[in-house]
Amino acid sequence: MIRGSHDQVDQSTKPSKQRRRTGSRVLTMGLLGLIAMLVLTACGPDVSKPYTTISPASDTADGIQSLYILVFWLALVVFVGVQFAIVYAALRFRRNKPLAQRPPQVHGNKRLEIIWTVIPAVVLLVVLIPTITTLYDQDAAANDGDIQIDIFGKQWWWEVNYGTDETQGGEDLGVITANEVYIPQGKNVVFNLQSNNVIHSFWVPRLSGKMDVVPGHTNKISITANEPGEYFGECAEFCGAQHAWMRFKVIVLPEDEFYAWVNAQRVGNPGTTDTEAELPDGVALAPQAFSLCLSCHVVNGVVPYTLNGLEAPSNLGPDLTNLACRDAIAAGLLVNNRENLERWIDNPGGVKPGNYMADQITEGIVRERYGDDGFNELIDYLMTLQPAGGCVGTEAAEGAPPPGVVATPGATPAGTPAGTLAAVASPIVASPVATPVD
Ligand code: CUA
Repeated sequence: MIRGSHDQVDQSTKPSKQRRRTGSRVLTMGLLGLIAMLVLTACGPDVSKPYTTISPASDTADGIQSLYILVFWLALVVFVGVQFAIVYAALRFRRNKPLAQRPPQVHGNKRLEIIWTVIPAVVLLVVLIPTITTLYDQDAAANDGDIQIDIFGKQWWWEVNYGTDETQGGEDLGVITANEVYIPQGKNVVFNLQSNNVIHSFWVPRLSGKMDVVPGHTNKISITANEPGEYFGECAEFCGAQHAWMRFKVIVLPEDEFYAWVNAQRVGNPGTTDTEAELPDGVALAPQAFSLCLSCHVVNGVVPYTLNGLEAPSNLGPDLTNLACRDAIAAGLLVNNRENLERWIDNPGGVKPGNYMADQITEGIVRERYGDDGFNELIDYLMTLQPAGGCVGTEAAEGAPPPGVVATPGATPAGTPAGTLAAVASPIVASPVATPVD
């Protein structure tokens, strides 16, 4: 193809003309390459795609992005250089006419061999040094956090257990929630990743790299989020039937809103089935069917022994405190609204096959035991599980349903505020020196 009409050119008499042609062809190809590159660079980060990895919003992700950019440009230079050399050599040294004799045979070229050994070595060194620095920096940040959060990978959801907060004098925040992780903006939050089952992987693409969640070993990852907002995460290691629906969300709030959320979680949702008990205004009596939930779930503030003597044996299932404030249920699978709660409670195995709740709550069993009225009372009650005065810190969530969820238009959580039977902890205030917003 390259030869074409040049077969007829007399190589001995037209060397300069041929070089000029070669030069112009290389130039044309270079221009085409440049245009392709510009088209590609127009594909910038699109933050409307929640799992984008090229729109960092935390110090950790920034560090990774810097490495990524460095490697990208180095790779581009190498790519362009190699392509240029290939095209140049193919055009410049092509055969113009049938050869009368074999070209001179050569073996080895010391200068070339040194060049193509040294250049890759330098390129790798340029990548290696900042990579090691970043690794050590991120490791150091994970050992010196402002707030400690234990994350437990479950099948198939995430338990979020807030520990000590150095900005509050080392106080244990003592909040447990699931799948929706609230953190304050500008604080170094350390996630201590643990599992008692199989290996999961904690990944919030815009905030961090992936980190495995390994049974028997605690891995740490640090995130200092720079901007308030919602950041979607998911399990990135195959962990069983519902691996794909082991999603979660990190909600970054300004510091004062974060502590308002913490306090609301600490107060919890009072509840009882004891009809003799005095309940504050607006607090709904828990229906009998709720005792079924307390076999596996905890609600901070609900006194378990008042519910048919049942006490949640452990955190077998997600903590349901302020459940009505969550955007999603079933680890990101369903938007949290009445219709989906009904679907979920009526037949969890039909919604999320293989999940462990379905072992206990088989299809229709709640209606069977408590009747349609009892079932509806349970759903009503679950939708009252929110703080007195409404949910806290959910503004960031508005207009951004979790990707892939089954949304049901028109439905919103019920707005019956729960009163306060007993505040379980004294409220926390944000530290006086607020973090400046960039
Ligand atoms: Cu947990 Cu995949």
